[in-house]
Amino acid sequence: MEYRTLGQTGRTVSRIGFGGAPAGLKNYLRPYDPADRRQRDDFQAAIRTALELGINYFDTAPGYGGGISEQIFGEALADQPADHLWLATKVGPCGRDDVLRSLERSLNNLHRPSIDLLQIHGDTISDQMAADMLAPGGMISGMEQARRDGMVRHIGFTSENMNGAVETLIASGRLETMQIGYNFLFQHPYEPTRPFGCMLQAEAAGMGIITMRTTTSGLFQRWIRQIRPDDAFDYTPALIQFVLSNPLVDTALIGMRSPAEVRQNCAFCDDLDGRIDLDEFHRRYLAQP
Ligand SMILES: NC(=O)c1ccc[n+]([C@@H]2O[C@H](COP(=O)([O-])OP(=O)(O)OC[C@H]3O[C@@H](n4cnc5c(N)ncnc54)[C@H](OP(=O)(O)O)[C@@H]3O)[C@@H](O)[C@H]2O)c1
Repeated sequence: MEYRTLGQTGRTVSRIGFGGAPAGLKNYLRPYDPADRRQRDDFQAAIRTALELGINYFDTAPGYGGGISEQIFGEALADQPADHLWLATKVGPCGRDDVLRSLERSLNNLHRPSIDLLQIHGDTISDQMAADMLAPGGMISGMEQARRDGMVRHIGFTSENMNGAVETLIASGRLETMQIGYNFLFQHPYEPTRPFGCMLQAEAAGMGIITMRTTTSGLFQRWIRQIRPDDAFDYTPALIQFVLSNPLVDTALIGMRSPAEVRQNCAFCDDLDGRIDLDEFHRRYLAQP
């Protein structure tokens, strides 16, 4: 397993992280019911396999099934010492006091007195929302309070959308990590040729960079099935290698459901020959020999 230092947190995290959306959301990406004990057991076996193979980053949220994803991680990781893990959860946009109430529920679900990272769970964050979050008495002040109180070691934000509010949150200097949607289909966060993108801004600000939807949440594969129904090629390794080829990505989150998927993805991560030169890949004006 490859490891990175997650920005100025100074902490060491595995290059791939275990994404917790499929654990809690019913029928997320394929038929699945978190209430089914057998399917939950498969999930927990996948989490234990991930630990054995060196994955130490686990990402969950109260929004994934109303706390069910957090409970599944809490059970599976119960006997793991805190210094072995990077355990991250989220809180939806809300007021300062609601942050502390949500975090208390998360800690209860996770069976932990404290966790590593609390992130604003942003789908898309508007300019007004960012201004409210950053205002005195806004939700970020609640997250800072939780950090002072020792309930959480670090604070950050997530966003699906690369917009002005993301730039504002980075520039505030108050958040230590950014989790952003980035994959072969959604490359705006890193455009190396112009260059632009919030990953470059976050790196310059010393933030840890976590990316999500590494295998495109199944969209690319669904597209291939539409246009080439007989194409049996497995594109997953190439999609994972694309994201891992980006040197700014500290941890790429992958939703995984079974020990077999975890083993495959760790093998892709270990295959350093599968990385490409992204700057070369994006070059538009070829120098003729
Ligand atoms: N705003 C936010 O904070 C936010 C938003 C989105 C995601 N996230 C985080 O990012 C994580 C990753 O995103 P995601 O789960 O949506 O998408 P993803 O990682 O792109 O895709 C997950 C799916 O990929 C499939 N997969 C994984 N390994 C595979 C392999 N070796 N071979 C074939 N298929 C494989 C699994 O399919 P099967 O289901 O068929 O097993 C899994 O459900 C989430 O779980 C969550 O933790 C955060």
